Amino acid sequence: MAAVSRCARTPRGLLLPRAGPGISVLAAAPSVLQQNRQVHHAVIPHGRSGRSSVSGIVATVFGATGFLGRYVVNRLGRIGSQVIIPYRCDQYDLMYLRPMGDLGQLLFLEWNCKDKDSIRRAVEHSNVVINLVGKEWETKNFSFEDEFVNIPRSIAQISREAGVKTFVHISHLNASMKSPSKYLRNKAVGEKAVREEFPDAIILKPSEMFGREDRFLNHYANMRWFGGVPLISLGKKTVKQPVYVIDVAKAIINTIKDPDAKGKTYALAGPNRYLLYDMVEYIYAVCFRTFIPYPLPRPLYHLVARFFEMNPFEPWLTRDKVDRFHTTDMKFPDLPGLEDLGIEPTPLEQKAIEVLRRHRRFRWLDAELGEAKPAKTCPM
Ligand SMILES: NC(=O)c1ccc[n+]([C@@H]2O[C@H](COP(=O)([O-])OP(=O)(O)OC[C@H]3O[C@@H](n4cnc5c(N)ncnc54)[C@H](OP(=O)(O)O)[C@@H]3O)[C@@H](O)[C@H]2O)c1
Repeated sequence: MAAVSRCARTPRGLLLPRAGPGISVLAAAPSVLQQNRQVHHAVIPHGRSGRSSVSGIVATVFGATGFLGRYVVNRLGRIGSQVIIPYRCDQYDLMYLRPMGDLGQLLFLEWNCKDKDSIRRAVEHSNVVINLVGKEWETKNFSFEDEFVNIPRSIAQISREAGVKTFVHISHLNASMKSPSKYLRNKAVGEKAVREEFPDAIILKPSEMFGREDRFLNHYANMRWFGGVPLISLGKKTVKQPVYVIDVAKAIINTIKDPDAKGKTYALAGPNRYLLYDMVEYIYAVCFRTFIPYPLPRPLYHLVARFFEMNPFEPWLTRDKVDRFHTTDMKFPDLPGLEDLGIEPTPLEQKAIEVLRRHRRFRWLDAELGEAKPAKTCPM
């Protein structure tokens, strides 16, 4: 009996097998080898890597049901990690995540970000915690301060208390206290809060991400329904350096594996910089749609956004989003980036078709990407 209870008390072990009512204690007793292990066998790396192996990573991914989350869970599942997925949505809304891990490797858990016990339950068996929680708009229940400061602070604090070894937090490349966007100002405060609570946290600062389910390229492509694309100063004063979502997911996995990454901040951006005008022109070229840009002064743009903000569900545009999308992407030459994590950044031109094909007319569905003129880039 003592052997069984020692096994169940293993400090960082996960979901330890317990003797059920029908199983004799002798049958459930671990071997001498197992008794001497510091770590439960479920987290000792073995196998040839791949979904059915064991990477030794037991990761809790907060915000796994979002855009970036699915790529992170897939990458973790692919190397044979155990992933704990706290969720707040209907369980049928996360069915697409289930095949991303081997049998029993993905564990779903309901959580409430305001209930510290539910956070503790989600992190107490993990050696890695990844925070991807975020929202593009404020709701009556959650302000940007809640999303980007209070929730990350609670997760970081509880993870530290629970003895989690690696904490990864996703911020934003343009996070700054001086930003006109409240989202970006709170992201900056959130970075500080996470560092205070978990000094060894790895902070990743991606620029706007593009990928199939993004709200960036798709957003501009969908603007055709409104007769044209409004851009502040015609988009000629804003420079963007979008990053591919899969590069960010790879970066998260590589930072987890790299012991030197602890306590560092990474700036993750794509390989090219574009004037917003050129980038949107390229989006329309790939979609084979007519590009009708027109300049819209910021106050007028905000007025339009205010109208969309009245949508009680998912506002398509908000004043904050207008400001965020018209913020020039910052450069951080002193911070390590994708290359330092062994990742070659993917150019927009290579993957835009993945996102934008669905915006084409049937006639152009199969047209080669080469037929669209590449976007003009700005000097780095
Ligand atoms: N998308 C970008 O281009 C971009 C660029 C730079 C940085 N980031 C940052 O990267 C992170 C991930 O971005 P994303 O695009 O994947 O975000 P997303 O698609 O909006 O997903 C956010 C996730 O957070 C969860 N969440 C939000 N508020 C919550 C709350 N109050 N309680 C519990 N769960 C909550 C969502 O759950 P539900 O599904 O239940 O809502 C979802 O799983 C965010 O922090 C974002 O700010 C994103």
